[in-house]
Amino acid sequence: MPEINSAGDALRHWDAVAPAWDAYRDRLFDDVRAVSERLVEQIDLQDGQTVLELAAGPGETSFLAAARLGSAGRVICSDFAPAMVEAARRRAEEQHLANVECRVIDAQQIDLPDDSVDGVLMQFGLMLVPEPDRAITEIRRVLRPGGRCAYATWGPPDRNPWLFQMVAAMVQSGIAPPGNPFAPGGLFSLSTPESNQDLLGAGAFSDVTVEEVTGVMRYDSPDDYWTFVIAVSGPLAELVGALDAGQVHDVRAKLQPSLAPYENDGALELPWTALVTKAV
Ligand SMILES: C[S@@+](CC[C@H](N)C(=O)[O-])C[C@H]1O[C@@H](n2cnc3c(N)ncnc32)[C@H](O)[C@@H]1O
Repeated sequence: MPEINSAGDALRHWDAVAPAWDAYRDRLFDDVRAVSERLVEQIDLQDGQTVLELAAGPGETSFLAAARLGSAGRVICSDFAPAMVEAARRRAEEQHLANVECRVIDAQQIDLPDDSVDGVLMQFGLMLVPEPDRAITEIRRVLRPGGRCAYATWGPPDRNPWLFQMVAAMVQSGIAPPGNPFAPGGLFSLSTPESNQDLLGAGAFSDVTVEEVTGVMRYDSPDDYWTFVIAVSGPLAELVGALDAGQVHDVRAKLQPSLAPYENDGALELPWTALVTKAV
């Protein structure tokens, strides 16, 4: 079984799934569009401002911010995985988005000067960072005084069955995804309002708010759910790729009854809950 613990492993996994994020970008964006919209609203864009998106994946939230900012503003669309940044750059060029600049940036070590941006966005990235307090200190450093930061993380597992049921079926089959999902860097590490308030309170931010945004992930069938979630889940893609046919069969058999309550005419509708945290 591959070990997935180091920062290098995380980078490799996200780089490897970048083609799937590129191919499925519309579907991925549409499923959680409400979160992207809320994040962009929360940083209160003004003409001519500079916005940094961290962990941007293939860039759709950056493109939304760019459309709102207009040509006088600038969006720095970044991710630590070069293949994600390349996918974002290609799409920005296809769409002739002259106010978007795509760059490789690690959220824990932001390669930008102090006080250089007006807003920072980060959607479903901060909880994956092994030292989130370091990322918050870096975000604070690059933000101009009065600048805003807005980020989204997944809420608790029982409110995110689309994610939790997959992980639970693996654990029941004796295939434990690496790491503690509630420890820093884990999927559910920033899943409560308190954990986000604590993180930002320690990082010299004021006016911290945490709100819930909810929605539903739709899949054509259990097969579609399996293929899609595995294809875009950085660490899980490699883990599942290393399983033999019998192990895959076992995980899927464990998954079947837990998905049943969400079936509707053969399709699946699985709820999600995100937390949107904003700070000034
Ligand atoms: C779940 S995806 C979210 C992508 C995009 N923000 C979205 O919501 O569609 C997580 C992203 O975080 C990036 N990432 C993980 N750790 C990072 C880090 N330390 N610095 C920057 N990006 C990171 C991954 O490469 C991946 O693109």
